[in-house]
Amino acid sequence: MAPLIAVEEVDKTFESGAHGVRALDRVSFDIEEGSFVSLVGPSGCGKSTLLKIISGLIPASRGAVRVGGRLVDGPLANVGMVFQAPVLLKWRTVAENVMLPVEFAGRNPRDYEDKARSLLALVGLEDFYDEAPYRLSGGMQQRVSLCRALVTDPGILLMDEPFGALDAMTREELDLELLRIWGEKKMTVVFVTHNIQEAVLLSDTVVVMSARPGRVLERLPIALERPRTIEMTSGAEFGRYGLVIRAMLGRSAANPPVKLSA
Ligand SMILES: Nc1ncnc2c1ncn2[C@@H]1O[C@H](COP(=O)(O)OP(=O)(O)O)[C@@H](O)[C@H]1O
Ligand SMILES: [Mg+2]
Repeated sequence: MAPLIAVEEVDKTFESGAHGVRALDRVSFDIEEGSFVSLVGPSGCGKSTLLKIISGLIPASRGAVRVGGRLVDGPLANVGMVFQAPVLLKWRTVAENVMLPVEFAGRNPRDYEDKARSLLALVGLEDFYDEAPYRLSGGMQQRVSLCRALVTDPGILLMDEPFGALDAMTREELDLELLRIWGEKKMTVVFVTHNIQEAVLLSDTVVVMSARPGRVLERLPIALERPRTIEMTSGAEFGRYGLVIRAMLGRSAANPPVKLSA
């Protein structure tokens, strides 16, 4: 089966000042439809840049991304995005925030009221439909931004360290909620994190990236059974995956790529 997303030899150099910043170095990997793939790597290795290139928000300097066989050359329509900060509009209610992508797509929010209600119920926020965002905790706000990303039923969900600002327990709760929703909706998820444990808990495949310029060090399949549980995180198999990834990242930091220029 052809992959849903193909990242092909993607290079990215930001032209800033006298010297360009090389963010990505010939990054290639495939993502199967319906799978959950995490990108793990040190801060600044180009994870956010790669996610933006996949979504079509910014172009690659070289190489290409294909989604469903089609070359990505502009922002994709069938994609939901969740960022580290929930960025809810404070003058809008929870439901009105969830409706934003509906309005951007030029559709009628009325047709999506049931959808918004059922999504909010799915994350335990059915009673907050008409609330102002400031009444919600950080974890609740991030649940709202997940609902917002899902309201138009995207086939692909791109998440950039979505739970990185939350405390560990809330993050675990949201990780498990995300897995439940993913199982129900059969989407393809690309999830950026620098938390190794979170990547192993969630993913079918972990793409391990080197320090900048980001290269793919490994595409590691995670063979843990599903549904995943928090109990698994204390098991031996889980621990081995963590060690393998940590060793890859450590090696890449200890042996940075040789610089040829003076
Ligand atoms: N718009 C930009 N202009 C210049 N440099 C950028 C821009 N965006 C990102 N970078 C640089 O590219 C590198 C990768 O950034 P980023 O993708 O945000 O990394 P990560 O998400 O892995 O922390 C960093 O060195 C960052 O400073
Ligand atoms: Mg980032």
